[in-house]
Order: sequence, then structure tokens, then C-alpha cells
Amino acid sequence: MRPEPASTAADIHHRIWTELQRATVDRHHEWRTPVLATTGLDGLPQARTVVLRGADARALQLTFFTDSRSPKVAELQVAPSAALVFWSQRLSWQLRVRVGTRVHTAGALVDAAWSRVSQSAAASDYLSPHPPGSPLHPPTADTAGTHHLAVVTARIEQLDWLELAREGHRRARLTPDTIEWLVP
Ligand SMILES: Cc1cc2nc3c(=O)[nH]c(=O)nc-3n(C[C@H](O)[C@H](O)[C@H](O)COP(=O)(O)O)c2cc1C
Repeated sequence: MRPEPASTAADIHHRIWTELQRATVDRHHEWRTPVLATTGLDGLPQARTVVLRGADARALQLTFFTDSRSPKVAELQVAPSAALVFWSQRLSWQLRVRVGTRVHTAGALVDAAWSRVSQSAAASDYLSPHPPGSPLHPPTADTAGTHHLAVVTARIEQLDWLELAREGHRRARLTPDTIEWLVP
């Protein structure tokens, strides 16, 4: 284990948010596809990959899109606490964040998201008359323009950063103003 470095909380916080913001625009960024862990309706763990769509450092908020009929939405409506895990080999950084989520199915946030998604190949995912996870049906025509896009905002409550390095791993629990160094 390396001795405590001189890096400040603000320093590391800034570097983390720079990478998160890059990941929302860079298709090749390894942090673009974190794993989202939730509590299933049966009380057991559930996890799946999602695409990071937004990262707002000031609001400590991450955003992703999903289908409002997907099981994860039902889960988050019952148990809004979730975790996101990011790993980047390039950075040798793992980020584990505990978040409080909100699911938005209507309103300005969803309208803005749909205007983005509707221009992309992913639009058809949200226009299918069949909910995600339902048995496979023969193809059916999309219902005229009705989409099922939901925007999930995830406010960061706790952030655990781990850096792997040959000269010694570093791990810290961070808030925007504080840093607590932990045994990796
Ligand atoms: C690379 C990758 C990116 C994905 N991105 C999303 C996403 O942004 N939103 C989403 O709802 N599902 C996404 N999925 C699909 C989910 O991992 C999952 O299979 C699906 O949403 C059903 O999850 P649920 O049954 O827990 O609701 C992605 C899968 C992969 C492999």
C-alpha cells in the first residue's frame, strides 16, 4: 500500500467527474457502460449494464435511459437506492457509487431525451409494443409514435474510488469536499 498521497479531495473529485463527463460523449470510454445494481422485486440482487447518458458534477447526478416497462424501473420505484460500478483498464480506476434514483416517464427531461434518441437507431427499442423481457413475439408494426423511454436520474450519495497501481493501490471515500483514505 502506498503512503497517503498529497492529492486533495477536490483534485480527485475533479478528475473523476472529467472522466464521467467524457464517458457520456465518447463511445469508446470504458466508463460509458457501468453496471447498475438494484434490489429485485423478490428482494434478491439484480445487476445489468446501462449506458451513461449524463454526468452533472455540480448536482452530483448521473443519468441513464431505459424502457419505462422494464423490470429495473419497477424495482427502482419500489427501492430507489441503487449502486453503479465503473471499471477502466486505461485509468486502472474502479468507481463504486451508491445512488438515490428517480424515474422520469414524462416531462421536459423525457421530451429532451426522446428528441435525442428518436434520431438514433435505438429509437425502435423504445417503440416496441412488447415490454423488455416479455416472450419473443413475431414482428409487429410499431404503435404509431408512442415511445416508452424513461430517464433515470441517479444522485450520488457515496463514492468509493479505487486506483490499482504497481507502486501501491489507493482507495478513498469521497465527497466533493472531503476525502477519507481507506485500506484498498
Ligand atoms: C453494452 C450494453 C448497454 C446497455 N445499455 C442499456 C441502457 O442504457 N438502458 C437499458 O435499459 N438497458 C441497457 N442494456 C440492456 C440491459 O443490460 C438489460 O439487459 C435490459 O435493460 C433489461 O434489464 P432489466 O430486466 O433489469 O430491466 C444494455 C446492455 C448492454 C450489453
